[in-house]
Amino acid sequence: MQGKYTKIIFKLFKDKNYTYLLKQALKFLKLKFSPVVKKRLTSPLIATLITTYHCNSQCLKCIKQGLKKDEPELKTKDFKALIDDLKNLKVSGISFTGGEPLLRTDIIELFEYAVSKKLFVHLSTNGYLLDAETSERILKTGLDSINISLDSADSAKMAQVTGVNDSLSLVCQGIANIVAARKKLQVKVELGVVTILNFKSFEEFEAVVTLAKKLGVDGLALNLYHVFPQTLEKAKENISQGVILDKIIKYQKRDKFIENSSAYLKLSRKFFKGEPLPFCCKAGYNFMVIDPYGQVFPCFVWQELGNNTLSLKGRKISEVIFSPEYEALTKQALSCRSCYWHSYQENNLLFRAFLR
Ligand SMILES: C[S@@+](CC[C@H](N)C(=O)[O-])C[C@H]1O[C@@H](n2cnc3c(N)ncnc32)[C@H](O)[C@@H]1O
Ligand code: SF4
Ligand code: SF4
Repeated sequence: MQGKYTKIIFKLFKDKNYTYLLKQALKFLKLKFSPVVKKRLTSPLIATLITTYHCNSQCLKCIKQGLKKDEPELKTKDFKALIDDLKNLKVSGISFTGGEPLLRTDIIELFEYAVSKKLFVHLSTNGYLLDAETSERILKTGLDSINISLDSADSAKMAQVTGVNDSLSLVCQGIANIVAARKKLQVKVELGVVTILNFKSFEEFEAVVTLAKKLGVDGLALNLYHVFPQTLEKAKENISQGVILDKIIKYQKRDKFIENSSAYLKLSRKFFKGEPLPFCCKAGYNFMVIDPYGQVFPCFVWQELGNNTLSLKGRKISEVIFSPEYEALTKQALSCRSCYWHSYQENNLLFRAFLR
């Protein structure tokens, strides 16, 4: 994943003109120093849009189940207005997630819209709805990167984990379709698989890697199973996973298909000892999340910890992000040590590396 961030940053730098390049470098510096001066000097790098809480799966692990309320989710025009505001706010990219984002009938329109604003566009999906036609339509929008969740290479186990009988064949077909569409259209898009370490032995992990390679994606990122809100106490209950992690650390040294940095994998040892994150978390400065009810918060797992969120309530996202109330949430995130979620901790490690 750290590799992916580096690629993203290089792509952002490479494809644009010198003015843009300079602006991005300045943004990066401001992001780096915001936590030092404990004041937001610029908008986040990436905005995550939870486009819906609806899903066509019932994964045992899922932290987002139960967040669906009996109220309407943001409409196409609301998301487009939000994308306009995010562009004005000078975020670098948008990550579309859910629930299952491909359940939204307007999702391709939203990708097109975000790409037309020259934003980096990423999608996280379970892959079930990636038929051949949808895959081509998605890639034709020009989005930059897609991650697909794959938690087992065994169909019975996958059915157990996802609560959907034929989930393994659905995901594999989806991945095959998107890989075929990339080849047919000759587009540059990063295709990756995300898998959760827990629920499997080392041999089962290797089987997922083998399957992902066979399907033709570019890499595999590992995340750790988080149970909220008692994350670290629960992690300690799975101390035996640390042994598997040690094997993966060795495996990653010889196989760069594993996208996680070795720094992240080594850091993850602390997770299974139930130790809090050993550094301050910059997620609140570098990221923001907006959910389908217009709630704004610093990181994807924020609500699961029982933390406060702020409502857009007809306000522009810039008014929320630079408000004293949001500054308080960002500072709260800075002293939060509660998770080892791969994307946030890879980002923290990357920023620490740049700082050194
Ligand atoms: C909530 S899903 C939304 C996108 C899409 N439905 C999917 O499954 O990829 C985003 C990511 O969260 C991960 N996830 C969900 N619950 C988790 C948990 N308890 N611990 C770690 N990762 C989790 C999923 O594996 C997926 O990679
Ligand atoms: S597919 Fe994604 S959002 Fe749906 S239940 Fe599984 S992890 Fe959660
Ligand atoms: S450690 Fe960072 S990413 Fe994790 S819950 Fe806390 S603020 Fe969010």
